[in-house]
Amino acid sequence: MKRDLLTIQDLTREEIETLLARARELKAWQQQGRSQTPLQGKILALIFDKPSTRTRVSFEVAMAQLGGTSIYLAPGQTQMARNEPMPDTARVLSRYVNGVVIRTFAQEAVAELARHAAIPVINGLTDSHHPCQVLSDLMTVQEHFPDLAHLKVAWVGDGNNMANSWITAALHLDFVLYLACPKGYEPDSALLQEAQKKGKKVYLTQDPKAAVADVQVINTDVWASMGQEEEAEARKEVFQPYQVNADLLKLTRPEAIVLHCLPAHREEEITAEVLDGPQSAVWDQAENRLHFQKALLEWLL
Ligand code: CP
Ligand code: NVA
Repeated sequence: MKRDLLTIQDLTREEIETLLARARELKAWQQQGRSQTPLQGKILALIFDKPSTRTRVSFEVAMAQLGGTSIYLAPGQTQMARNEPMPDTARVLSRYVNGVVIRTFAQEAVAELARHAAIPVINGLTDSHHPCQVLSDLMTVQEHFPDLAHLKVAWVGDGNNMANSWITAALHLDFVLYLACPKGYEPDSALLQEAQKKGKKVYLTQDPKAAVADVQVINTDVWASMGQEEEAEARKEVFQPYQVNADLLKLTRPEAIVLHCLPAHREEEITAEVLDGPQSAVWDQAENRLHFQKALLEWLL
């Protein structure tokens, strides 16, 4: 039966661990100049309703390196822009290609595509989740702290798609997650409740200083996500105390790394000093999208 990746909850803990191990192997092989082309003849469609640099390029490069090809479907350039129903798009694409990555607004649109497609569907970001990013980020974290079960992670900023995906990761793996979000900008309450019900160590606070004390990983992201551009100015004021800067880093462990899925706005959610500083792992983080997604594509396709 075909499998999809709509949220991290579609995977078991064992599957996540296997994918992370395979991603590490593929990265090492690439560094040794060894190539692997298990996806020869396979074609991946990329439906993007929002802009992207990393997700698009890393998936296209991943397919090319694995011996397959990809077709990028730009926002507004398919018949979906003229209201062709998602189920029909799903049925038709299933007759041409071997998998689809979709980046769009509503999570339900991705779920609808998956329900009607006979091929694997991968969520390349919605308003609610960004599973490929957080799974790749776990790979980056493991490069510094191999034992995920004994990890403490902080999320500082908006309770957005990335924050939700970190909660779903914590539901599977036993790391401690502290989320510091301003009032009114919390992550999905149903996910938080589920974490609580399952006894997971997922804690929400409004205090970024409390969240980062004693963690190995500090995560942040833009204050206004794609689709929230009109709120950007108002959010700047609310989120100012949540900036990841040198003062905040002083409150945590000296070995802590800083992650940001990018694109970043220097001097807003993160200072240039931190983003470009010695504790930042953001460029490895961006690179690891490629390696993790190669493992994912190899498995799903
Ligand atoms: N981090 C991330 O998904 O970046 P893009 O928006 O450039 O794909
Ligand atoms: N939260 C951000 C992530 C960008 C990769 C957004 O949705 O715009």
